[in-house]
Amino acid sequence: MHRDLTRPLAGKTAIVTGAGRGLGRAEALELGRLGAAVVVNDYGQGGRDGSGEASHGPAEEVAEEIRTAGGRATAHVGDVADFNTARGLVRLAVDTYGALDILVNNAGILRDRMVFSMSEDEWDSVIRVHLKGHFNTTRFAAAHWRERSKAAGGGPVHGRVVNTSSEAFLAGSPGQPNYAAAKGGIVGLTLSTAGALAKYGVTANVICPRARTRMTEDVFPDAEFTADGRPDPLSPEHVAPLVGYLASPQATGVNGQVFVVHGGMVAIVERPRVAAKLDAAGDVFGFAELDGLLTPYFGERRGEGFAAVEVLSLKRG
Ligand SMILES: NC(=O)c1ccc[n+]([C@@H]2O[C@H](COP(=O)([O-])OP(=O)(O)OC[C@H]3O[C@@H](n4cnc5c(N)ncnc54)[C@H](O)[C@@H]3O)[C@@H](O)[C@H]2O)c1
Repeated sequence: MHRDLTRPLAGKTAIVTGAGRGLGRAEALELGRLGAAVVVNDYGQGGRDGSGEASHGPAEEVAEEIRTAGGRATAHVGDVADFNTARGLVRLAVDTYGALDILVNNAGILRDRMVFSMSEDEWDSVIRVHLKGHFNTTRFAAAHWRERSKAAGGGPVHGRVVNTSSEAFLAGSPGQPNYAAAKGGIVGLTLSTAGALAKYGVTANVICPRARTRMTEDVFPDAEFTADGRPDPLSPEHVAPLVGYLASPQATGVNGQVFVVHGGMVAIVERPRVAAKLDAAGDVFGFAELDGLLTPYFGERRGEGFAAVEVLSLKRG
């Protein structure tokens, strides 16, 4: 196996979506540092809710930062939730660098509102950017890898998808029904992709990051950085090394996994397990029998269940 630990992505090409700011920027810089040529996508809008006009600034600036550091990078300004734009993004990577090896889906927006007040547009726009945005790029990258594998006589290719979900899905964040649903959909999309592409040597995994960016400036307003000089655990660059690892040849055996990650901590989340299995006395259940079993069962377990995930504390907490 390839064991270069300083430039494990040398010769590889990566796309990072929404890489003009925040986590995507940190991930693009890290992939560049690890040796990959990076296509830096960002629509460049001014608002974290996706408002404002497209702008070349953020994607161009990050691509320039990677080049200044000695790497290779190209900017792509476009909306990943547009099917044809996503096709063009994958084509740009292949045309510019000869192939695509790594796809990091990260672009996202927020339009928070309680479910009883949410507008149709707030729902649609968040589902569109996150869930359709992840699907669009994955679809064209997957077709590229399938073709490459066929051209190589059916052998494995280096294909990596790293998708971005959120603890908001795991915990069912009450003020974010659109966002929690989109992030849950991304986990389902990733597991499906992981299963479908394994035979081509392609892996797909999910990260649930935590970092101080413009998206979370209300939740994490102040830097944890203290006078002792230790790193701020919520700085976005601490999420990027896990993305670099998942993108690397070393992570060949990591597929269909969900990680929670922030400064100094990586948690591997188990798939939901069957907590209890109830069998009907006869062939099928009726209302009274279900009531006799389920009402006492949940009476004892109020608050437990799928949504009651552990909120992990910061390593420095
Ligand atoms: N920051 C956190 O703690 C946190 C927690 C969980 C999940 N996430 C997820 O991480 C990802 C990055 O978030 P962030 O905190 O860095 O936010 P951010 O707002 O700093 O960056 C998001 C970037 O995506 C870009 N973008 C938005 N819509 C786009 C589109 N349609 N096409 C292309 N680019 C688009 C924006 O211009 C922006 O540069 C998001 O998917 C977010 O949901 C973040």
